[in-house]
This record gives sequence, C-alpha cells and structure tokens, in this order.
Amino acid sequence: MACTLLVTGGAGYIGVHVLAALVEAGYQPIVLDDLSNGDRRAVERVARFTGADIPFIEGDVRNERLLDAVLAHQARAEQPVAGVIHLAGRKAVGESVADPLRYYDVNVGGTVKLLRAMARHGVRRFVFSSSATVYGAAREMPVTERHAVCPTNPYGHTKLVAEGVLRDVTAADPGLSVAVLRYFNPIGAHPSGLIGECPQDVPANVFPYITQVAQGRRSHLAIFGDDYDTPDGTGVRDYLHVMDLAEGHVRAMQHVLRHPGLLTVNLGTGNGISVLALVRAFERVSGRRVPYRIAPRRPGDVAAIWADAGMAHRVLGWRATRTLEDMCADGWRWQRMNPQGYATPPEPVPSGIAARAVRGRRTVTSLVPLLGGHNEVGRV
Ligand SMILES: NC(=O)c1ccc[n+]([C@@H]2O[C@H](COP(=O)([O-])OP(=O)(O)OC[C@H]3O[C@@H](n4cnc5c(N)ncnc54)[C@H](O)[C@@H]3O)[C@@H](O)[C@H]2O)c1
Repeated sequence: MACTLLVTGGAGYIGVHVLAALVEAGYQPIVLDDLSNGDRRAVERVARFTGADIPFIEGDVRNERLLDAVLAHQARAEQPVAGVIHLAGRKAVGESVADPLRYYDVNVGGTVKLLRAMARHGVRRFVFSSSATVYGAAREMPVTERHAVCPTNPYGHTKLVAEGVLRDVTAADPGLSVAVLRYFNPIGAHPSGLIGECPQDVPANVFPYITQVAQGRRSHLAIFGDDYDTPDGTGVRDYLHVMDLAEGHVRAMQHVLRHPGLLTVNLGTGNGISVLALVRAFERVSGRRVPYRIAPRRPGDVAAIWADAGMAHRVLGWRATRTLEDMCADGWRWQRMNPQGYATPPEPVPSGIAARAVRGRRTVTSLVPLLGGHNEVGRV
C-alpha cells in the first residue's frame, strides 16, 4: 500500500505541483488547506491527470482538533500518516509588513500546532517550506546553508523563527526527522498546462506578472530598479522550475523517512538570472513582447542572490534539471490554456502527460464527513 503523506497548503501554487510529484513517485497524498490562497479545483485537476484519489480537507492548520481527527482517522483506517509536508502559510512580504501578527500566527503558530498534533499521534517525519529570504542581503555568492541568516522583513522572520522551532524540537527528540527546505525562486508550471500559479490579486512576484502582460491582461511590467550592482542593473535571482522544486520535496521526504535529525538545505539551480534576462528569455520562448518600465527600487529588495545547490545534490541526490526556457514555456502554456486561472474549463489532458499510476476513483474525496463534525471550518 502507498505510503500516506499529509500535505498542508496542498491547494496552493507549490503544493499542487508537490502533489503531482508525490503521486508520480508512488505516494498517497492527503491535502489540508483552508483555501485562503489556494484552489480546490487545482487539487481536482491533479487527481484527474494523475488518476489518483487525493483526499481533500478544507481547514486551518491551526485547528488542533481537526489535525487530531485527521491523524486519528488515518490510523484507524490503517493508512497512518507517515510524514507531513508543511507548505501552508502566508507568503506576501508587503502584507507581512502591514500585518506581522497574522504572519507569526499562521507561519509560526501553525507550525507549532502541527508539530504538537504530530507528537500526539507519533508522526515524526516533517518537511518544511522555508525560503531563501532568511539570508536577507547575503554577502557571499553563491549562498551556502552555512551563510549567516538575517531576514529583512517580517515574512522572513517568521520563516526563521519556525526554523528555530524545528531545530529545538529535533534537538529535544532524536527520533524526529526534519528537512528544512530553503526555496529560491520557483516559477513555471506543470508541463500539462493544467496546474500553475494562480494569484488571487495583482501578482506580487515577477513571473506571473510577465505572463499576464504577455497575455494582454496588464499593460506593462514594472521592473524595480535598474541601478543595482549587477551585469544589467536589474535584480538577480535564482529562478527554478516549480516541478524541479516539487521533486525536491519527494527527495526530502525520502531522506527524512530514512534518516533522523535535522537537515537544512537550499533548493535552487545555482544560477543567477537577472529580471531583464528573464523577460528576454520569456519573449524568445513565447514570441510575445513584454513591455516594461523601470520603477524605483523597492525597500527590502536585495541586489542579487543565488544558491549553492551542492548540498541538495550531495545529501538528497537532487539537482534542478529544467532550463530557463522550460520554465518560460511551461508557465506560458499554463497562462494561455487558463486565461481565467482555475475558473477556465480544463482542456483534455494531453497524451503522454498522465502519470503512470492510474488508480483510485479519479476524484478528490473529502474526509470531513468521516471526521464526525470535527472540522470547525466545515465548509466542505
Ligand atoms: N512561492 C515562492 O516563491 C516561495 C518561496 C519560498 C518559500 N515559499 C513558501 O512555500 C509555501 C507555499 O508557497 P506557495 O507559493 O505555494 O503559496 P500559496 O499561497 O500558493 O500556497 C499556500 C497554501 O497554504 C494555504 N494556507 C494558508 N494559510 C493556511 C492555514 N492557516 N491553514 C491551512 N492552509 C493555509 C493557502 O490557502 C494556500 O493554498 C509557503 O509556506 C511559502 O512561504 C514560497
């Protein structure tokens, strides 16, 4: 029987790609998401193109009664949760500056409550979404995991505090196994064009903004600063394909299932790409022009940061394999096929895309009726 994994935030951008990679690798994911920034239809699409049955629970990761009910239900059904991939959280830097308490509550409080529930139910394998933002304005490139950490905004602080919680609980319990994944800049989409990034508001990140400009939904891209100390003056980041990132989670989970202790690891390509180079690559691949204007630098943005990706390769056997062109082509396909995001009726699954495992009922089932009304959010 497939190993069952709980994926919090599994209806979000990275989460749905992680679901696809987990099913492809033979795992059975269960999703817990409050849909504050995710979309249930995204999970349904993954279920459809993988042929997997992916149980979905709408609820808040801070709801300990719900967590207890889910973990107990799985144990009773003899499909105990073997590990948790914790992606649920808030991620907008500007919002974190305006409302830091919300960020501490969800990103730190949610992590603590999840760890407590896991401890009550003997679940001891944990993969955590952290961010390269914990490095702040890093001094030495490429950034290794040993580089000093110094976030420049509340969002980054919440990730660092959560990392500290994980370090302390792992030190207190040698049987616990945790992987902290410091993501660089995921972009692009699944090659099927069926799932991708679907911002609910004006995109806060550059790539979905580029795709919306190319589609004609926005007039131009604002590039924040062209006077940085970088080859073309625009900011340099380590963009990686979201499916490479998703596969990194599979490797990280395989690692924690075998090795106790704490692993903190960068997930990036090791290449720095400027915003302007990203725009040019996108124009080449899509054949569309992306008009842009230079705007003032944004406070808190760093000039350049890219990963030393060596540890991920040495310890996890993971390396990003997709090119910048792949990221642009797949992200553009998603945007073209889904001009209204998940509200767009999905096209038939292209041949060759469906995952190998075709099993289950091809639907997203809900566990909530099985939980005896424990889901206080209870909108499913
Ligand atoms: N996208 C990036 O560039 C990036 C970079 C570094 C780290 N991260 C981290 O990766 C994780 C996933 O990011 P994403 O880009 O997929 O974001 P996202 O907003 O698309 O996904 C997060 C998901 O978590 C859910 N969620 C939020 N609060 C919740 C709560 N209290 N209970 C249950 N579910 C909740 C949302 O509904 C959403 O589906 C986040 O923790 C984010 O901080 C993202």
